[in-house]
Amino acid sequence: MPIYLDNAATTHLDRRVIQTVYACAKEKLGNASSQHRWGVQAAVVVEGARQIVARSINADHREIYFFSSGTESNNAAIQGAAFAHRKHGDHIIVSAVEHPSVLEPVRWLQTQGFRISYIKVDRQGLVDPKDVSREITKRTIIVSVMHANNEIGTIQPVRAIGALCRRKGVLFHTDACQSFTKVPIDVRKDRLDLVTLNSHKIHGPRGVSALYIRKGVKIDPLIRGGHQENGVRAGTYNTEGIAGFGKAVEIADQRDVTRMQGLRDYFIRQIETNIAGVVLNGSRHQRLCNNINFSFPGVTGKPMFALLNKKGIYVATGSACVANTATLSHVLQALDAGQERADGAIRMTLSKWTTKKEIDVAVKSIMSILDGIRRKV
Ligand SMILES: Cc1ncc(COP(=O)(O)O)c(C=O)c1O
Repeated sequence: MPIYLDNAATTHLDRRVIQTVYACAKEKLGNASSQHRWGVQAAVVVEGARQIVARSINADHREIYFFSSGTESNNAAIQGAAFAHRKHGDHIIVSAVEHPSVLEPVRWLQTQGFRISYIKVDRQGLVDPKDVSREITKRTIIVSVMHANNEIGTIQPVRAIGALCRRKGVLFHTDACQSFTKVPIDVRKDRLDLVTLNSHKIHGPRGVSALYIRKGVKIDPLIRGGHQENGVRAGTYNTEGIAGFGKAVEIADQRDVTRMQGLRDYFIRQIETNIAGVVLNGSRHQRLCNNINFSFPGVTGKPMFALLNKKGIYVATGSACVANTATLSHVLQALDAGQERADGAIRMTLSKWTTKKEIDVAVKSIMSILDGIRRKV
């Protein structure tokens, strides 16, 4: 059995989620928008999941909208807010380390006449709220800073950013695809206006996500058609996916987070004590419970990745979404990591099922691969 250390890319479905998806596919036969009994039964499933997702972030169920992916939720939040508020301004602020599903829409919005500011991060990947505050002008519509980074796991000070955005009357969006159920989110206390939540990072099905839209916040729809989701996102409900997403949120357990934190620290300790010159990328303390990202000096990530792959140990170089491109990770570049460190970065991300034994095997494999590579040089 392979050792799967790529849980930031996607997770395996929990058995209870599979059962929920299966039961829904088998028994809920209607379209959730239909008025007949089967339609109503499907709608009950969707509404049940909406309640669960809402409760988990202290939102009202009417503030949760279902979408097809983290990518779509991010696009909808940013483009939707930009166009809905265009008469009030044309300025958007994002951090330099956002996921491509935030960076690409803002790059496109620039071609549509919007002005974009990119907030720098420090060497740990942290945004300074003061930098955000300084960039906000009367023309600013929206600030988007991710809750936790998908490559290096750094957790951003969203509560401080939320408070200052609210004070200045600017919308605040956070992409919580990686942090959802791992780092607490309270949309009221954190002063959040728009939050992207993902199913397939938390042992739920792929192809389903949510966007929290605070009551009163307007966004223009990306996808037009039927009246689903109050006109915010048209398209027939993915009832099975939504049911599975709800289940994944319902069974998320704080004890798994604590366990992963312990294993993450063990993994980091093992690497740092056994391999000289390694550099931990990202913040040591403001870090997701399941993220380990190291640069191995003198070694590029690609051969290391290939050799681990051969041994059945699945990791990532850079983020999964850019893994096949030749460009250096924009996140590591933003840390001022330098070419060699960016080139040599390997990301290993745990799940609630990762064991200490698997970590021991992975560490030993990394050590022997490094020995082999360095001996050849
Ligand atoms: C931080 C972050 N945002 C957005 C996404 C995109 O989510 P999806 O794969 O559901 O489109 C990902 C996926 O890796 C992510 O890690």
